[in-house]
Amino acid sequence: SRSINLAVIPGDGIGQEVVAQGLKVLSAVLPQDVKLETKAYDLGAQRWHRTGETLPDAELESLKNHDAILLGAIGDPSVPSGVLERGLLLKLRFAFDHYVNLRPSKLFPNTTTPLAGRPDIDFVVVREGTEGPYTGNGGSLRTGTPAEVATEVSLNTAYGVERVVRDAFARAAARPRKKLTLVHKNNVLVYAGHLWKNIFDRVAQEYPDVTTDYLHVDAATIFFVTQPERFDVIVTDNLFGDILTDLAAAVSGGIGLAASGNINPTGDFPSMFEPVHGSAPDIAGTGKADPTATILSVALLLRHLGFEPEAVRIEEAVSADLAGRDGTFRTTDEIGDTLAVRVAG
Ligand code: NAD
Ligand code: IPM
Ligand code: MN
Repeated sequence: SRSINLAVIPGDGIGQEVVAQGLKVLSAVLPQDVKLETKAYDLGAQRWHRTGETLPDAELESLKNHDAILLGAIGDPSVPSGVLERGLLLKLRFAFDHYVNLRPSKLFPNTTTPLAGRPDIDFVVVREGTEGPYTGNGGSLRTGTPAEVATEVSLNTAYGVERVVRDAFARAAARPRKKLTLVHKNNVLVYAGHLWKNIFDRVAQEYPDVTTDYLHVDAATIFFVTQPERFDVIVTDNLFGDILTDLAAAVSGGIGLAASGNINPTGDFPSMFEPVHGSAPDIAGTGKADPTATILSVALLLRHLGFEPEAVRIEEAVSADLAGRDGTFRTTDEIGDTLAVRVAG
């Protein structure tokens, strides 16, 4: 019989609140014969304050023994910026070789986006997840003095770029529009930019059916707002992908709806699913957090594990729920309850 062995990292701020709703909907959507086992990990700000630990080796090892990970959000104003982000979230993405950071955007019905009424937005950003400026390759000299010098070096390997570019081409080839756009900044970042472009052009020869395009990242931000329909699949570096996907969320329905998967395509390690947003300390504890992004991340998780009908049920429930929203305030819990009822049929 089928089973899901899920690791859960609620984390900080609204992470705790939205993950509770994600699990509620997951339990509701799974058929009786699927055995769901969840193990919650106490990681994040509270753990750090208590013990000074971000992600101990024992926890990292234990997390490996799961089919997937569901994460809420990491980061808290009481912890120096970067400690948890680097020591927990990025450590997980690197350790589990999550080189494909998948961030789909669809124009959701009945939301207040600047693009409401525009042609359908339906694109997916394939954000590189293990390299670029995220590797911690830098340093500071004469820190805190007027003569301080800081470097933050972007690391790009042919191996790392080629594997994510190949993944993006395969995804584009499998979609009806078959279009792949590389986003970089090779007019200024000439070393990394040309590495990306050369590999992109070489792999493109193996995919004659895929239409290709290249945009500098600054121009890409224009077209995200003015011509979002020109995008199908986008492949880009770690930092550009981070920024573009918050913009994509804002124009397609709001940050409260944007889901993501940190995928290890080889299956050597568990993939990790999380909303695009962070711990939102400004609304934590108020009931204002929209759990939909996390619930849609649960759909991505189910699809990744082969539960396609259940993933579709969640996505359809969200669409129906959004279509029915009339602007009346609903708490995090109320949205979760409504979606749990809808997916159960
Ligand atoms: P944020 O995404 O937490 O918040 C940005 C804005 O969006 C805030 O006004 C917030 O209230 C709003 N928002 C976010 N999620 C929402 C939701 N589900 N429903 C309604 N509104 C929502 O980004 P930030 O303020 O830059 O970062 C806060 C903390 O989160 C920082 O410590 C940051 O490092 C961390 N962070 C973590 C992740 C992650 O764990 N994956 C992602 C982004 C930021
Ligand atoms: C995200 C977040 C993270 C990132 C931070 C918190 C490390 O912004 O998941 O988008 O930059 O990848
Ligand atoms: Mn981000």
